[in-house]
Order: sequence, then structure tokens, then C-alpha cells
Amino acid sequence: MVDRLPLAREKSIFGAGDVLRGLTRRGRQIEIKPRRARVMGIFSCKGGVGKTTTAANLGTLLAEKFGNGVVVVEANLSAPNLGLHLGILDAGTTIHDVLAGAAPMEKAVRVVGGSLHVVPGSVAYEGEIPLIDLKGCIEPMRSKYRLIIIDSAPGLGVEAVAAIKSCDEILVITNPEIPTIASTLRTFQAAERYRVPITGVVVNKVKGKRYEVPILEVRKTLGWPIVAVVPDDDKVRESLTAGIPVVRYASKSPAAKEFVKLAACVFERLTKARERRAKG
Ligand SMILES: Nc1ncnc2c1ncn2[C@@H]1O[C@H](COP(=O)(O)OP(=O)(O)O)[C@@H](O)[C@H]1O
Ligand SMILES: [Mg+2]
Repeated sequence: MVDRLPLAREKSIFGAGDVLRGLTRRGRQIEIKPRRARVMGIFSCKGGVGKTTTAANLGTLLAEKFGNGVVVVEANLSAPNLGLHLGILDAGTTIHDVLAGAAPMEKAVRVVGGSLHVVPGSVAYEGEIPLIDLKGCIEPMRSKYRLIIIDSAPGLGVEAVAAIKSCDEILVITNPEIPTIASTLRTFQAAERYRVPITGVVVNKVKGKRYEVPILEVRKTLGWPIVAVVPDDDKVRESLTAGIPVVRYASKSPAAKEFVKLAACVFERLTKARERRAKG
């Protein structure tokens, strides 16, 4: 784990326009800084590497730290399964209804585990979504949350591009296998193209086998810091069947412990960023 996550070309999303100046109360100058969420996307070109697992576990842990300040949004519209990772089985209002203009975002938000807000997708949605304005749907949520986590679709199709364009930064998930690493390079190219900073790389499902690409090689090939190395752990598979993120299902399992470290790292960074803004 790196202490401070590097961000390429990070632009401040907390510009002067966010600060309402000039209000006075009892003669004193006061500032009102509206709450403004950071939008973090979870990406990988390949499917099945652990994006949704990471989104669900990171979301669960950070929601506890931030109170009701975290929402995870499904952005894999073709094969949504964020809800399944979090035990949401009912149909209800989903991100599909929101994108189709049939419901406001607030109506699609559920709360799981006491504090994590979730906007699930519909596995059975049959209508067409002509235009994916994910960014437009997410923007109004910025004033309500500290962190918005977007669980992206794999590939670089319309869905993934819509998700990437909505993000302030992206966390890239990969596995220590040559084809996955090769496709991960394409995720970096997309981030570059849309000028989205990279939080770091999570290497997931590490078995420690001889045929795997060593972590140092992964780091060298990708050229970005590895922020977590999550072992391949059957407790993760079990936890999906139970619909409970592994950090709650088996908190002492090796995978859960690594997700805890990753969440601590992200929490510290978001908190420090807020302190920096408060100072100046
Ligand atoms: N660290 C891990 N150890 C074991 N199984 C894992 C791990 N991470 C993810 N999985 C399993 O891999 C499958 C795909 O994970 P998922 O998060 O849905 O991938 P993605 O969102 O990238 O398609 C799921 O069955 C999940 O339980
Ligand atoms: Mg997924």
C-alpha cells in the first residue's frame, strides 16, 4: 500500500465556484462550503476480475466511516450484479429507470447494512436506453454524499465510456495474468483520453502460483502504484452467494483484511483532501 496515492493531472473539483462567499452574520464574514462528493470509478477492461467485489466491499467499509456519506452506483447496464453482491433481490426502481427518465435518482437509492446507499441495476430491464447520461444523473448527488463509487461495465463500450466520463478518479482492478494485464493497459489509455486521474491499481485474485505474473512485474508493466493485493479467497465467493460483502461475511479472511487496508488508504486520502481544502 502506498501512503499517498498519486493522481495524474489532478484538477481540483473544489474550485472557488463551490464556495459561497460574502455572507455575513453578526458582522462576521462566513463561508458556506457545500458538501461535494468525490466520484471514484472502479474499472477494468476485462469482466470477472473483481470490480463489483471491490465496489461492494470498499463501499461497505467507507459508508461506516462516513456515516450516510457513501453511495455505490451500478453502471454495468448490460449485466448488472452490484445488487446481488449486496443482497438486494427485489426489483424496485433501478438505475435503468433513472437513465430512461422514468424516475428520479433519489427513488432508486436503497440503504443496505445500515449505512451504505446503493443504486442497483435491473437484471430484467427490457426497455431501451437511448442515451446514457450517467454524469447528468450523478451530478445532483454530489451535494448529498462524500463519496460516489461507480461500478463500471467491462470493456470500453458506450457504458464504460459513460462511466469514465462521470468520474473524478478511477481505481483500476486487474488480476496477475497476462491477458488481464494486457487489457488493463487499455483502461489506462482510456483514462488518459478522457483525462481522468488514476487512484492506483488493485491486483485481485492473487493465488501466489508460479504461473502468475509477479506483483513487481505487474507494477513495472502498468507503470502505476499497486494500492492493494487481494488474495484469491473462497470466502469472497461464499460471501457473494450469501449476498454479504466479505468484509462483513468473513471479516478475518485474508481478502477482507486487504479490503480493510485499501479502504483505510482511500479514507485517509479523502480526509486529507478535505483538510487541505479547509485550510486554503
Ligand atoms: N479475491 C477474490 N477471491 C475469490 N473470488 C473472487 C475474488 N474477487 C472476486 N471474486 C469472484 O470472482 C467473480 C467475479 O467478481 P466480480 O466482482 O463480479 O467481477 P467484475 O465486476 O469485475 O465482473 C465473483 O464470483 C466473485 O465472487
Ligand atoms: Mg461487475
